[in-house]
Amino acid sequence: MTGDDEREKMALQTMGTALGKNSGAQKDSGAERDEGAQRDGGNDRVQAVDQRADVGGEKRGEKRGEKRRERGFGTRCVHAGEGHNPYGAHATPIYQTSSFSFDSSEEAEALFSGRKSGYVYVRAPPGTPTHSAFTEKLVSLEGGEAGISFSSGMAAEAAVILSHLQQGDHLLSTDVIYGGTFGLFSAVLPRYGIQVSYADTSDLEAVRSGLMENTRMVFLETPANPTMSISDIGEISSMAREAGAVTVVDNTFASPCFQRPLELGADAVVESCTKYIGGHSDLLGGAVVGSASLIRGVRRMAVSFGGTMGTFEAWLALRGLKTLHLRMERHASNALALARFLESRPEVREVRYPGLPSHPQHHLARRQMSGFGGMLSFDLSGGREAARKLMNAVELSTLAVSLGSVDTLIEHPASMTHASIPAEVRERIGISPGMVRISAGIEDPEDLIQDLEQGLERI
Ligand SMILES: Cc1ncc(COP(=O)(O)O)c(C=O)c1O
Repeated sequence: MTGDDEREKMALQTMGTALGKNSGAQKDSGAERDEGAQRDGGNDRVQAVDQRADVGGEKRGEKRGEKRRERGFGTRCVHAGEGHNPYGAHATPIYQTSSFSFDSSEEAEALFSGRKSGYVYVRAPPGTPTHSAFTEKLVSLEGGEAGISFSSGMAAEAAVILSHLQQGDHLLSTDVIYGGTFGLFSAVLPRYGIQVSYADTSDLEAVRSGLMENTRMVFLETPANPTMSISDIGEISSMAREAGAVTVVDNTFASPCFQRPLELGADAVVESCTKYIGGHSDLLGGAVVGSASLIRGVRRMAVSFGGTMGTFEAWLALRGLKTLHLRMERHASNALALARFLESRPEVREVRYPGLPSHPQHHLARRQMSGFGGMLSFDLSGGREAARKLMNAVELSTLAVSLGSVDTLIEHPASMTHASIPAEVRERIGISPGMVRISAGIEDPEDLIQDLEQGLERI
């Protein structure tokens, strides 16, 4: 093992990723707390953390020899990853520092050589204990082994792609993707000799014929932004594996609450934490979660390219995750209520929501998701002009891009989020001029319906 490899391995351990062990049970790992505490120096502080770890979480039951089932998703939203402070602060503090000091030159040498794990400099994951808490919580929720948080979803995508692909490799992507991802694939990757092609990944035959000799990565966005089409993560991951490629899933629309691609067979998950994970439209962030070995490569990218998450953002995202399960339930029930309402309206030609039996992959969505999410889109018969009037007429929904916020957002993909995609490509993949996208918030559903109703009456 080289010094670099050794250092990365140690860093991953400090990231609380517990190489090879089930992340769901990470919450009270005494070893991880020890490491955090050791970096804070002082034996009494280490002892205090040890004692707290003994009386809380998993250890109590283990002492009595009880076998515990894995904690539920909601419990992990609240508790996983917490405890990265030696003083007993109830909420994980914001460790607002750019670097960490060392007790001695010997300690510094041990940290830099990789013989000891710990916090060194915030750009190098694990960053700070605040980052550790957030990343461990997310890793637990996604069911992965390790993860790294980034300054945006795009930074996370770029890191996982560039860490795995090199000149001459081919990436096969879902044809319906977020406009920013399309920009990365069409304008950036080809400049570095990475070939990109697109397939309708809701059709397994199209995926099969899209795989090439040099395909090293399949990139899926499911549900896809903004058409809500669904790709079969399990089937595609095994097809990709046979072809020698890894599968990366953009899980932003579903969030780990409703879809866990790693459990379905994918190799890595990317999230724009700006959306449901933060949940309140007040932060920009991203994350990659996957196996420890894959994340080792992503860490190298994070250190070299920068773009890791800021500490305050990590704290906001950590707080957001604590209520993810509750928010997602309301986002989803509101989205279903809006989808049903819109289906009943004469102004609407088609509604795209995976929870509706009319959705072309409704059965697949039922199989691989535990909820249908808070996103929907619909086509107005009146086209672009009707979409323009509706967006100007709504009073409660916020006219804005992004998604996954507590308030309902409305936008026009063709002229906003997906404007960078050429018109003929948009038309081919189903982003029509009359399409409107809604991110259902957590308001009272009657108010949202009433607002859309008065808007539709004015188009
Ligand atoms: C599905 C999806 N993936 C990735 C991104 C990029 O995330 P960020 O804006 O945090 O870079 C977005 C942004 O809207 C998105 O909708």
